[in-house]
Amino acid sequence: MTRKIILDCDPGHDDAIAIILALGTPGIDVLGITTVGGNQTLEKVTRNALSVLRVCRDTDLRVYPGCARPLVRQPEAAPSIHGESGLDGVELPEPAGPPQDEHAVDYIIRTVMEHEPNTVTLVPTGPLTNIALAVRREPRIVERVREVVLMGGGYHTGNWSATAEFNIKVDPESAHIVFNEPWPLTMVGLDLTHQALATPEVEEQIRAIGSDCGGFVLGLLDFFRQSYRANQGFEHPPVHDACAVAYLVDSSVVTTRRVPLDVELRGELTVGMTVADFRMPAPENCTTQVAVDLDHRKFWRMVTEAIARVS
Ligand code: BDR
Ligand code: CA
Repeated sequence: MTRKIILDCDPGHDDAIAIILALGTPGIDVLGITTVGGNQTLEKVTRNALSVLRVCRDTDLRVYPGCARPLVRQPEAAPSIHGESGLDGVELPEPAGPPQDEHAVDYIIRTVMEHEPNTVTLVPTGPLTNIALAVRREPRIVERVREVVLMGGGYHTGNWSATAEFNIKVDPESAHIVFNEPWPLTMVGLDLTHQALATPEVEEQIRAIGSDCGGFVLGLLDFFRQSYRANQGFEHPPVHDACAVAYLVDSSVVTTRRVPLDVELRGELTVGMTVADFRMPAPENCTTQVAVDLDHRKFWRMVTEAIARVS
């Protein structure tokens, strides 16, 4: 069955690979891409999304720019990880077209309300500002959305502080709103995405495809590896955002555990921490779950097949 999704992203090397995975997988129908200020400015990440569409030869898919900054806090980009453009390491092709005039928040609301209930899935892979505003502007989307599958957070570790992950840390107030709505929500956090390492074997498989898109992804991974070695102590880079899409392609690639979740807003050392309560079996009305284990081989097979398809 085809899954209709809205990708809400801030490309970003791993966001770009998430887009490629979504567009190159037959069971996924990307209704639209919305962008949010995060890894870089809204202008840059929107351009990046449109350039990735050019790489995928999909010039019809529309990109809707959303919020340029978090709800409460000052914007904080991630040039140490993604470079000045947000997609350093590759030559960016011309954007596939202009961005849409309609604001991402309006687009999300319109699309969810126009579709049959329970058919549209939101896949945020950046700060949650657009999704939080959409919920506040039109609360009825909560019962109409099929589910929210987001990359962000972690229940054991952080990467933007000792306890917080980037997407949640830069806009914790938005994350708090999104995590506390009663829609089915899957947190694909660092515990899972740190298993999605682009190893040399993975790169070999991508190289073997021998396509332009494959070359583009290799350029991204090369830069991403250097960033992760220099700044995060990783040998190979974790391709976070593609994991959220992979879970929708085939949920067996990820094991999950149902658990109550919340977002810390006030701790001196813990702002933006996602708190998972593992003490008891989750209560009946718990609508949140966390991703726990990744089938690495299956995940990368999906990604390489998608790269081959869009090329
Ligand atoms: C998340 O932060 C961003 O830098 C990546 O694109 C990913 O969404 C990982 O912490
Ligand atoms: Ca991202």
